[in-house]
Amino acid sequence: QNEIYTEGIHGRGPRVPTDHAELERRARRVMSKRAWAYIAGGAGEGSTMASNRAALDRWAIVPRVLRDVSSRSLETELFGRTLPAPVLFSPVGAGALAARDADMHIGHAAAELGVPYIFSNQGCAPMEQVAAEMDRVRPGAPRWFQLYWSTDDDLVDSLLGRAERMRADAVAVTLDTTMLGWRPQDLNIGSLPFARGEGIDQYTSDRRFREIVAERVKAAVAAERPEISLGAIKTLVSIARNSPGGLLKNLTAPEPRVAVQTFLDIYSRPSLNWDDIAGLRERTSLPIVLKGVLHPDDARQAIDVGVDGIIVSNHGGRQVDGAIGSIDALVAIAPVVDGRIKVLVDSGIHTGADVFKALALGADAACIGRPHMYGLALAGADGARDVVANIIAELDLTLGLSGHTSVTDVTREALQQIS
Ligand code: FNR
Repeated sequence: QNEIYTEGIHGRGPRVPTDHAELERRARRVMSKRAWAYIAGGAGEGSTMASNRAALDRWAIVPRVLRDVSSRSLETELFGRTLPAPVLFSPVGAGALAARDADMHIGHAAAELGVPYIFSNQGCAPMEQVAAEMDRVRPGAPRWFQLYWSTDDDLVDSLLGRAERMRADAVAVTLDTTMLGWRPQDLNIGSLPFARGEGIDQYTSDRRFREIVAERVKAAVAAERPEISLGAIKTLVSIARNSPGGLLKNLTAPEPRVAVQTFLDIYSRPSLNWDDIAGLRERTSLPIVLKGVLHPDDARQAIDVGVDGIIVSNHGGRQVDGAIGSIDALVAIAPVVDGRIKVLVDSGIHTGADVFKALALGADAACIGRPHMYGLALAGADGARDVVANIIAELDLTLGLSGHTSVTDVTREALQQIS
């Protein structure tokens, strides 16, 4: 934070606001209505988003003094790797709404900080490209892959194989979005980002996904021609217009439309169950982390099926309206897990003090979603980096000022519950 103060003295000020409320206000001003609706929006009446903040506010930090906090460490171990801080970038799909090449910028930012970036399965850049950019900044920079379990098993295997080859540290399987939640902000505008095909390059860069699209394109063309339907005429017109190379080549003309439809049809599997997760061990060598766990019994079962970690999350309040705040869920889950597997948390974490509370309540690390997207919208890679760097700087201060020298020393003793 010394650098931030120094910038202030020179009259430049920080690149992005150093508090969440102003960050959000400023980001809203630069984002399109559609981007704001999708990124800032939550499910239903927004009550889960409110619960996330209320749950954090129910805990107060009770600082201790005179403990020599002159040297401090935020270092955290996750899956065999020592991280500079217990903080990760949450996976965020359709980032192109906020900025061009969003994933590349965020990868760059995460690599500069040396903290993991969890690549979204709905990322708008292929994971290999983002990994290469991260390696350029910091060779071997940590990255994870987030999987939405497709209805097509070969696609699941293809994505897992890619994640292994680009040297992901872990795969996070998101469990809370087997169907998209009720999101009034998007519904009222009548537009979901993916309907126009933004943000699906993670899929369109996949060999198995392209195979499925090619099969569907062939079927669509075959079905359209005999009837000479309006669709077929339109397709033929676009063929004539766009492809001087001849009719066969033009079999790919409907591809973008079919690709989007294919993506919407197959990206997630509502029938997903514990047997699938148990079988995942056979399909990947990567550490497996289940994202979206909120019930202690599910945490117990996660341990029983042999996964390596969980992310206590309600998807930033975007799925079930009226769901439990993620910190309230963490309080119930941490004692059940009792250190047997890694426990991460996200949803509503805005500040270093929030991360501190999460650690005190039993989390090994916290993930940051919307805040880094706001930084991205305001100032690209530098903005995304600064938002997370600010959170880490405040965590370091909170650690010291509350009388701790290491994040691993922070326990529930540091907090008092206020009813
Ligand atoms: C998300 N999230 C998400 N999660 C996931 O597993 N895969 C994804 O593709 C996405 N996409 C996504 C898009 C947008 C615009 C947002 C805001 C969120 C959820 C995300 O990983 C994380 O759980 C929440 O964002 C955490 O809450 P906060 O930090 O945004 O309050």
